[in-house]
Amino acid sequence: MSDICLSVRNLSKHYRGVKAVDGVSFDVMRGSITGLIGPNGSGKSTTIDCISGFTSADCGEWRVDGRVLTGTSAHQHSAAGLVRTFQNVRCYESMSVLENLRMAVVAKEGVGLWSAFLGSLRASAADEAARQHGLELLELIGLSAYAEAPSSVLSYGQRKLLSIASTMMSKPRLVILDEPVAGINPTMILRVEDAIRKLNASGVTILLCEHNMDLVMRLCDRIIVLANGQLLASGTVDEIQADKNVLEAYLGPDHMRPTS
Ligand SMILES: Nc1ncnc2c1ncn2[C@@H]1O[C@H](COP(=O)(O)OP(=O)(O)OP(=O)(O)O)[C@@H](O)[C@H]1O
Ligand SMILES: [Mg+2]
Repeated sequence: MSDICLSVRNLSKHYRGVKAVDGVSFDVMRGSITGLIGPNGSGKSTTIDCISGFTSADCGEWRVDGRVLTGTSAHQHSAAGLVRTFQNVRCYESMSVLENLRMAVVAKEGVGLWSAFLGSLRASAADEAARQHGLELLELIGLSAYAEAPSSVLSYGQRKLLSIASTMMSKPRLVILDEPVAGINPTMILRVEDAIRKLNASGVTILLCEHNMDLVMRLCDRIIVLANGQLLASGTVDEIQADKNVLEAYLGPDHMRPTS
């Protein structure tokens, strides 16, 4: 098997004349934490939406572990081991924190949402296994005390943590995180960082879309940079930090050095 987990070729997505993503190609190596960065509006989320099956691409092809996923549904992406979080966190507000985790497995297995809401979730042996897995994950992210609480009580940062734990429920190959620390405090950022490291240490490849450069530089093996919907650069942290195009066109030299 090749060392490439995700390959994206010539991906484009236009919105009424806006070239949100314009002929982007890149690879994500298996086992890596790869950063996806770029200024606001550079096409990061649109790229993620396309390659996770949440929006249709105009053209391009993408594969996970060699399997072509172009044109398949979000559910099929999930079943193939590619799961993602959203820039704006999504929770089932009236369901408990633990039930939210269970829903992540439901999404992968393709069980109808109605049957979930009607209570069949609690019935099966598979559900008991998922419950145990969910409890372990809540322990791992420090939210055990909230297991039975409705997710509506969680803070924004706690919801971000829960969304990462949700990706772990389906035992994915590749997790794409869209701004996992946006808008959360430094202590919570460290908890999210810890969760990402644990997820990666368990063998999961990670594509990390994030504006927090300190976090990106600390966590990532390689970085992909988008600007104006196009690939501006890709390389190691050192290469990106030294890349004149990136320094001038996007971040500016003062932003490129980690402060901790
Ligand atoms: N549904 C949409 N309809 C129209 N234009 C869109 C839509 N989604 C994105 N765009 C446009 O596509 C471009 C890329 O947006 P995208 O959200 O992918 O950028 P981003 O890199 O994720 O930005 P940010 O860092 O602010 O999250 C922007 O110009 C945006 O306005
Ligand atoms: Mg975005």
